[in-house]
Amino acid sequence: MSDERDMTGSGQGGTNAMWGGRFAAGPSAIMREINASIPFDKALWRQDIAASKAHVAMLGAQGIVAPEDAQAISAGLDTVAAEYERDGVPEDWDREDIHMTTEARLAELIGPVAGRLHTARSRNDQVATDFRLWVRDAAQQLDEGLAALQRALVRRAGEHADSIMPGFTHLQTAQPVTLGHHLMAYYEMFRRDRARLADAQARMNECPLGSAALAGTGFPIDREATARALGFDRPTANSLDAVSDRDFALDFLWCCSATALHLSRLAEELILWASQPFGFIRLPDSLSTGSSIMPQKKNPDAAELVRGHSGRVIGSLTSLMITMKGLPLAYSKDMQDDKPPVFEAASLMALSVAAMTGMIADATFNTGRMRAAAELGYATATDLADWLVRQAGIPFREAHHIIGAAVKLAESRGVALDQLPPEDLKAIDARIDESVYAALSVDASVAARASFGGTAPDRVREAVAAARAVLGMEE
Ligand code: ARG
Repeated sequence: MSDERDMTGSGQGGTNAMWGGRFAAGPSAIMREINASIPFDKALWRQDIAASKAHVAMLGAQGIVAPEDAQAISAGLDTVAAEYERDGVPEDWDREDIHMTTEARLAELIGPVAGRLHTARSRNDQVATDFRLWVRDAAQQLDEGLAALQRALVRRAGEHADSIMPGFTHLQTAQPVTLGHHLMAYYEMFRRDRARLADAQARMNECPLGSAALAGTGFPIDREATARALGFDRPTANSLDAVSDRDFALDFLWCCSATALHLSRLAEELILWASQPFGFIRLPDSLSTGSSIMPQKKNPDAAELVRGHSGRVIGSLTSLMITMKGLPLAYSKDMQDDKPPVFEAASLMALSVAAMTGMIADATFNTGRMRAAAELGYATATDLADWLVRQAGIPFREAHHIIGAAVKLAESRGVALDQLPPEDLKAIDARIDESVYAALSVDASVAARASFGGTAPDRVREAVAAARAVLGMEE
């Protein structure tokens, strides 16, 4: 449609000598284009119809509109909805947005009585209501997606409660952990994300409809009735706030951003683990791509895009925060720009969560390779120090120093700690005896870490069982 834009200023009607000639034709075309939100807010059509039906039913019940008019309007709205469902929403910039598009079509269908629909409301409370309804659904869908991702994580964690891998700090091998424990760490992140969403969902569930343009209305409306009809907990308490508040969208974007951040960390790990030097996992073919030039390659594109999308999602939060910053009460047209970032974030999140769920569900874990990596890198050095503390009563700091010498020796010979002969260990500290070898295996190391929340396989199994109960997964 942008080819309709007229920048030539063919000179019709410009009165200002300085710029009128050039802009007389231009600005109205530009105005139509900059003003039109229909290209994106048509996504709100279901919410717009639902809110209008709730509103007109209330107008009828309150005697503000005659019952037969309310009936005709409601039936007409059903027809418009059926048309949208079948043919899509027409994009006419002169009808600006979804609200005017629907009302104009209603008038074409049922005549001037359509004009009664807009009694006691404004597009300001209308858009605030529609958008809340939309965000409420999007939050619910995101929550369902996250529950599916959690189920995939819990299932895989249960399979791998005993599988040993290196645990890292600074991406340096630190201590052996179990793969199940590692996966359950992400279960916990998504559990918090869902709690944040639930909190946002509860807070946003108030109905702005009836706030009208900004000050409320003189008509005897029933805001409780419209709130109830649309599934809101209550009407919003302050009309000025209600038409200009977009916290509900910001809350949603913050929830998306926190989740995107978690997804990007998991994506990064999958990408690392799928690389040849790690070789910890094989990602499913269905979520990978090949290279057009290097036939041996299988690229973790889905994981990379999940990691990449997080930037756009976090950008959408920043975008709306900056749009809202400094706006005086009540509605300003800036707020029309609230929708694109929210729509984009919601669809990126749906894709990212689905892709991650598929990757977790169908990844092949190379447990032999993970275990071998855990056995390298002196991951059980802390166990050796703990052994000295427990068996020989040595203070931990001193034990740490002694084991440092053992690691140095093993490193100089290019062997693992448990490959150092007993005499060499005794030479480092006379209190070390052969029973230390039992503490040096990676299995002994993870089994020992049975503190609550620790990596011991039994603890992981408990955590998996608790999560299964929370998620309602059958055994
Ligand atoms: N399309 C507008 C938006 O999304 C609807 C509200 C218009 N209100 C107004 N006073 N012009 O914000």
